[in-house]
Order: sequence, then structure tokens, then C-alpha cells
Amino acid sequence: MAYKIEKAEMIAENIFEFWINAPHVAKNARAGQFLVIRINDKGERIPLTVSGVDGDLVRIVFMKVGKTTMFLSTLGEGDFIEDVAGPLGHPSEIKDWGRCVVIGGGVGIACLPILAKALKESGNEVTGIIGARNKSLLLLKDELASHCDELVVCTDDGSFGYHGFPVDILKKKLEEGVVDCVWIIGPAIMMKITSLATVPYNVRTFVSLNPIMVDGTGMCGSCRVTIDGETKFACVDGPEFEAASVDWNELMTRQRIYTEEELKARELFED
Ligand code: FAD
Ligand code: FES
Repeated sequence: MAYKIEKAEMIAENIFEFWINAPHVAKNARAGQFLVIRINDKGERIPLTVSGVDGDLVRIVFMKVGKTTMFLSTLGEGDFIEDVAGPLGHPSEIKDWGRCVVIGGGVGIACLPILAKALKESGNEVTGIIGARNKSLLLLKDELASHCDELVVCTDDGSFGYHGFPVDILKKKLEEGVVDCVWIIGPAIMMKITSLATVPYNVRTFVSLNPIMVDGTGMCGSCRVTIDGETKFACVDGPEFEAASVDWNELMTRQRIYTEEELKARELFED
């Protein structure tokens, strides 16, 4: 079975938003889960987060970083993706936490609207904090704002909103004592540094880990992470974990193990 791309748009430099017709995924997908897609029968499998759901359609937002995402970015409306497996992974723990802060960095921002919406619908007060290199990379900002009580926007270059990083805003909120729970989604280094801020306040803090994944079903072991000293598979035990339990150095080292091969595959694709 192939899955039709119903809408495709480049929403920022190298970042694409696709709505894919996948009723079985759309029906069951919840915030925090992901898909594993394979473009054609010769393609590799890559994991992408469920960024939204609308009827039979499921949204992915991806950054062009290597061979498969480059290939994916060449597809458009009316094209088909061979396999869309999901929803995979545990959904985010949605309940009445109180005052929640959801933080996104880079392409991770696109994972926040579905999360903020679910938290809001469960009676939480939701503050969004997003950070990007510049204003052109503030993905889905207005949609996210519509699900938040407050949205604070940060840019590294000061081209929009607060000139600085989301962690600065988070620290202020923690000092004010107005935070009960935090989600952080973005590059590993950003999640590590931002989550350190909550440790002295003992505030529950979830991060969505992005190790290399292949099958997404707990069989291959490539997404192995260490959580509180125990081996876990991010695809079936996560992808969300409590930040303070994560062995960040191992995660970041393992993310780089195929750098040489990834570069070669990208060069071959570009030729
Ligand atoms: P490659 O040349 O293969 O790799 C480029 C970079 O991507 C490297 O840093 C590499 O470490 C990382 N990567 C490569 N293969 C994988 C893999 N199979 N799994 C994870 N990381 C990999 N990216 C988005 O843009 N949007 C998303 O919503 C998103 N959600 C994700 C959800 C999960 C649970 C995980 C684990 C990753 C997610 N990613 C997301 C990352 C995305 O899967 C990678 O960018 C993609 O696999 C890169 O493939 P490539 O062939 O284009 O690049
Ligand atoms: Fe293979 Fe998780 S991706 S075990």
C-alpha cells in the first residue's frame, strides 16, 4: 500500500511540511509518537514525529539533512510514499499537571502544537517557549500560539522576540515558581542544557530522544540509550524520557557513529 502526499510545502529554508493520507495512523496517533517511513522499496527507513492530525491526514515536518530527507524533499503533492508505519512509541504523558511549559528548538518546534493542544484539552495552563536561529525558522508559530496561554519566542540573532535562548526564559519562570512540568524537544545538546535548569527545582522534565533508529519496533537495537543506568530502546520504551535520567554523552556519541557513511550517501545522491 502506498500513501499519498496530499499537501507539501517548504515552510522555511530546508524545512518541509507534508500532509500524508494515512487513515490508520491519523486515527490512532497521539502527541509524542512518531512514524517510520520508507520512500520506496530501495529506500532506508527514517523516523519522523507526528506533528499534527487532521481527519485521515497526518503531518510530518522534516529538515533536509542527508540522503533520505533530500529525496523526500523532492516529492510533492500527489506523489506517494511506499511505507508509513505507525504511530510508534509511547504517547506523551498527558494529564492535569497544572502549569506546563513546552519548549522547542530547531525543527523540534514543529512537534509542539499537537502536544500543547493535548495538554490544554486536559485542563493545563500551557506556556510555549520556542527558539530558532532567526525569525524565518519559527515553524508553525501562529498555530502553536493558538494552543498556548502564552508563547515566548526567542531568536539567536534577535531578529524576532527575545534575543537569546529558551533556557533563559525557562530559568525566569522556574525562579518565579510557576512551573509544574516541562517538555523539551530539539537537538540533543539543546535538550541537555535546557533540562539542567529544572534540576534544582525538582520539576518533572520530559525530553524526546532522537537516536538513530532503523526498524522502530525494538528489534535492531540501533536506538539503544541509557536511562538511569539501564539500557532502553528509544523506539519502544520512549521516545520521551525524564531528562535527568538520560546519559546524554552516550546519546550524542552514538548519533555520530555513521557520519562518514551518511556523508558518502549524501554525496552519491547529489551526484
Ligand atoms: P543522514 O545522512 O542519514 O543523517 C543525517 C543526520 O540524521 C545525522 O545526524 C544522523 O545522526 C541522523 N540520523 C540518520 N539516520 C537516522 C535515523 N534512522 N534515525 C534518527 N536519526 C538519524 N527529523 C525531522 O526533521 N523531523 C522530525 O519530526 C523528526 N522526528 C524524529 C523522531 C524520532 C523518534 C527520531 C529518532 C528522529 C527524528 N528526526 C526528525 C530525525 C530524522 O529521523 C533524521 O534527520 C533522518 O533520519 C535523517 O536521514 P537522512 O538520510 O536524511 O540523513
Ligand atoms: Fe531498532 Fe529501536 S529502532 S530497536
